[in-house]
Amino acid sequence: MREKLLALLERTAEEVSGAQDISALEEVRVRVLGRKDGELTVIMRSMGKLPAEERPEIGKLVNQVKAQIEEAISARKEALSEVKAVEVVPDLTLPGRRPRVGRAHLINRVTDQLVDIFHGMGFEVALGPEVESEYYNFECLNFPPDHPARDMQDTLYVKGGGVFRTHTSPVQIRYMLEHQPPIRMVCPGRVFRADVVDASHSPVFHQIEGLLVDKMVRMSDLKGLLAEMAKQLYGAGAKVNLRPSFFPFTEPSAEFDIVCVNCEGAGCSTCGQKGRIEIGGAGMVHQEVFQAVGYDKYDVTGLAFGLGIDRLAMMMCKIGDLRLLFENDLRFLAGV
Ligand code: DAH
Repeated sequence: MREKLLALLERTAEEVSGAQDISALEEVRVRVLGRKDGELTVIMRSMGKLPAEERPEIGKLVNQVKAQIEEAISARKEALSEVKAVEVVPDLTLPGRRPRVGRAHLINRVTDQLVDIFHGMGFEVALGPEVESEYYNFECLNFPPDHPARDMQDTLYVKGGGVFRTHTSPVQIRYMLEHQPPIRMVCPGRVFRADVVDASHSPVFHQIEGLLVDKMVRMSDLKGLLAEMAKQLYGAGAKVNLRPSFFPFTEPSAEFDIVCVNCEGAGCSTCGQKGRIEIGGAGMVHQEVFQAVGYDKYDVTGLAFGLGIDRLAMMMCKIGDLRLLFENDLRFLAGV
C-alpha cells in the first residue's frame, strides 16, 4: 500500500508539472482526486481492508500524499494562468490607436481668419448682445417703422420686448455710443431670422460687421478694404465687385461679390454659374445714423460692411448644404 501511494505521488507530480494548460491539469486532478473513482480516492476506500494496526500510519500517509498533490496542482495552476496573462499582454505589432484631436469648428476658423485680416488693418473687435432692443436693431439704423424687415415673418421677437438681432449692425450703434472717431471695429457674431431650415437657410447664422469712421473716408476706401480682404482670403488674383443696392443705414449702398477664383468670372459649379460669389452688403454710413449716436454729420464720414460667414465657409470648402454646419456630425466636421 505504501509503495503504491508513493508511486502515485511521484507519477502525479510529474504529470502535474508536465500539464501544458489548465484543462490538461484539470484532467489529471479528476483522474487522481476525483470523488467517484479518482485513483487516490479508490486507494482510500480500500483502507478498510487493512489490518487495524497499519491503518493509522497509512491514513497519515494518504493525507500527506493528498495534500502534496493538491498543493502541486494549485501551484501549477497559478503558473499556467500567469503564462496566460503574459500571452494576452500587448501584441507589439498592432498599429497604434490615434487619439482623436479636436479643433475649432469651420465657422469659428473662418471667423478667426476674417478677424485676423481686419486686425492686421487696424480694426479692433467688438461684441454685442444677441437679444437686442428694436431701437438698436432697427430704429437707430434708420429703418422706418413700416419697413418689411420689421415684420414678424422676418424677425424673431422676444416675449416681453426685444428681438433676436437680425444682423450685427446694431453693434455699430453700441460702439459709436461708447467711442469717439476715429473708429475701426469689426464685430463677428450670431444673427437670427424667422427662416425655415433648408439647404441654404437657417434661423441662426453668422455675420461679421465692419465700421470705419474718420474724416474724409471715401467709397474708394471701402472698395480698397474689401479688395484687400478678398486677396487675403483667396490669393493675389482675387477681385471684388461692387453693385448698387439699398440699405437704410448706408448711402450710397452696395452689395459686393468676389469674382469667382475658380473660373475668373466665366461661370462654373463653385459659383453656381454666376461668375461671382455674393459676400455681403456695404456702404457709406448714413447721416441719420451719425445723428442717432450724436456724431457731427458734417465733421465725419464712415464706411460700413457686413458679410455672411456661413456662405463664405461653404464656398471655401465646397459644401452644398448649410445644415451640415449646424448638425455637428463629427464625420463631416473632421473632413473640413
Ligand atoms: N446688416 C446687413 C444685412 O444683414 C448687411 C450690411 C449691409 C451691413 C450694409 C452693413 C452695411 O454694415 O453697410 O443684410
